[in-house]
Amino acid sequence: MATGQLVPENPAPDNPVSDLPGPDRPVPDRPVPDSPQDAVGELPEGEREALELLERGALTVEGRLVDASNATLYCTVRSHGRQAQCVYKPVAGERPLWDFPHGTLAGREIAAYLVSRAAGWNFVPPTVMRDGPFGPGMCQLWIDLDPSVDLIRLARRTDHPPLREMAVFDAVINNADRKIGHLLPVTGGQLYGCDHGICFAEEYKLRTVLWQWRGEPLPPRAVATLRRLSAGLADGWLAAELAGHLTPAEVAATAARVELLLASRVHPLPPDDWPAVPWPPY
Ligand SMILES: Nc1ncnc2c1ncn2[C@@H]1O[C@H](COP(=O)(O)OP(=O)(O)O)[C@@H](O)[C@H]1O
Ligand SMILES: [Mg+2]
Repeated sequence: MATGQLVPENPAPDNPVSDLPGPDRPVPDRPVPDSPQDAVGELPEGEREALELLERGALTVEGRLVDASNATLYCTVRSHGRQAQCVYKPVAGERPLWDFPHGTLAGREIAAYLVSRAAGWNFVPPTVMRDGPFGPGMCQLWIDLDPSVDLIRLARRTDHPPLREMAVFDAVINNADRKIGHLLPVTGGQLYGCDHGICFAEEYKLRTVLWQWRGEPLPPRAVATLRRLSAGLADGWLAAELAGHLTPAEVAATAARVELLLASRVHPLPPDDWPAVPWPPY
């Protein structure tokens, strides 16, 4: 998967429009950090290389994603003859929100990546926290979409097992922003998702375009996955990973959501006191 996104270094990358001022300081290649203990075991093919490149590579801002609400920057990351495209969201560019503590969105994106990986869902592209030209932020591998997929039709499908699993993932992370444009289907059938900055609130804030399974029994596979997450949260290794990016109460709330899903074995219903669908939905 991620391997397909890593290409040999190209002296003339295809750059999108850049309307940003120059970075305030250069960000050189960084030394190799100690690899974190991988509590999950096998990573998807190419994932480790992608993480290393994202963590250590020299980051060059190519442009700003114009439809993005925060400072969401399209970048190239290069190291030792390898390069890839990525999204870099500096903490300093986060728009203040009334319902999420300021400066925490990048960490929530990492937490979503950790949950997705721990579950074996692998919905979230490789994502790291690192320093960049506009300060610390999250850096996520860019995923090239399958151009033949109609995203609006995809979001409405009821017969798409990965999409249904993504609805369970969103319930676990309490995703308050699953828009149609946050679905990233790639050639070959793998489904990714992006923009997990406003997730992991303690209160129930699920806001999504994927309500088509509300109240229906969870697929057996989702139940097995939730059990794995439950064990990771109870054993502490996943809780410990998440603790680097969320408050103790938010980690506890994540464990409680997993237990609630396992007890009810149904897809959640929309909240009564909260807009259940993002606006705009795309
Ligand atoms: N890792 C990624 N791979 C491919 N496309 C992405 C990725 N991250 C974001 N995008 C695209 O960029 C758009 C804006 O990014 P997003 O994360 O939604 O920013 P914002 O938080 O500002 O809404 C997304 O809707 C999606 O189309
Ligand atoms: Mg978005």
